[in-house]
Amino acid sequence: MPSSLELPQLEQNTLPHIQSGAPPALQTQALARPLPRDVQVWELHLDQPPPNAMQVLDRSEHARALRFVHDLHRNRYIAAHAWLRRILGSYLQRAPQDLQFVIGPYGKPELSQSEQASAETGPLHFNLSHSNDIALLAVSTDMAIGVDIEALRPGLPDATLATGVLTAAELAELEQLPAGQRTAVFFACWARKEACMKALGLGLALEPRRLHVGMTVQRQQVHLQQSHVPLDLARLPCRDGYAAALAGVGGFGRVTLQSVGELSRRLN
Ligand SMILES: CC(C)(COP(=O)(O)OP(=O)(O)OC[C@H]1O[C@@H](n2cnc3c(N)ncnc32)[C@H](O)[C@@H]1OP(=O)(O)O)[C@@H](O)C(=O)NCCC(=O)NCCS
Repeated sequence: MPSSLELPQLEQNTLPHIQSGAPPALQTQALARPLPRDVQVWELHLDQPPPNAMQVLDRSEHARALRFVHDLHRNRYIAAHAWLRRILGSYLQRAPQDLQFVIGPYGKPELSQSEQASAETGPLHFNLSHSNDIALLAVSTDMAIGVDIEALRPGLPDATLATGVLTAAELAELEQLPAGQRTAVFFACWARKEACMKALGLGLALEPRRLHVGMTVQRQQVHLQQSHVPLDLARLPCRDGYAAALAGVGGFGRVTLQSVGELSRRLN
């Protein structure tokens, strides 16, 4: 059963850098929701948080923010979750700080049932992924989705990582590649695997070596025992030095990339 994201109460002002001020006003201008089967993917720059970022987070998010050792990581977490709330709030025409989430049995956050039921605009599915200063937020109206972005890490994969996560056929494909291509191809493959794991809500409970996605496929259908319907899987364009992918249960239509520029101007 999903459990609530709520954590024990925190003392006020335990984060000294939290700015005070009135909570953000209800957003009046709704974002246009994706059409059925379509997916909107938002690119978020985590070193540019929305205004009043801390004030839209709930206690559990404050508690998580507190646990980061480095300010850089804390601030990026805050920015990612503030943008998540701002964007979902704009679709649902709800105040971002009022949104309630539940966590699935393997950690996947979703909007709560009551949130979905009370939304006059209809349900929303989302998934978030972050890497360094960039995050992707995928949004759909009618389909479980998973998104993943990975910064390429030079020198990887080493033998332990590759044999730990790739199928035998994928390993063979990787070994055929020129050495200079292996890092980018591996991380693109890994992003596609994680997007699948995240669409199903399973995370690493889905053993990556049992999930064959190949090394260089751009778009494909993946059939899994865990799912009654196939997963649609595609690479996503992203900035140099990163790999990204999107997976949707049952198959997606048009995928559009969104930037927060206009939303950001409306909030300022
Ligand atoms: C969910 C998981 C698969 C994604 O981890 P990740 O790549 O580190 O993180 P991402 O940024 O892509 O995704 C994290 C977000 O996905 C969401 N998420 C968490 N669990 C999830 C699940 N089971 N299913 C779908 N989404 C999930 C959350 O929104 C989370 O964001 P938050 O932590 O800010 O709340 C995680 O279980 C994991 O541990 N991955 C392993 C990473 C790893 O070992 N990499 C090495 C290989 S190169």
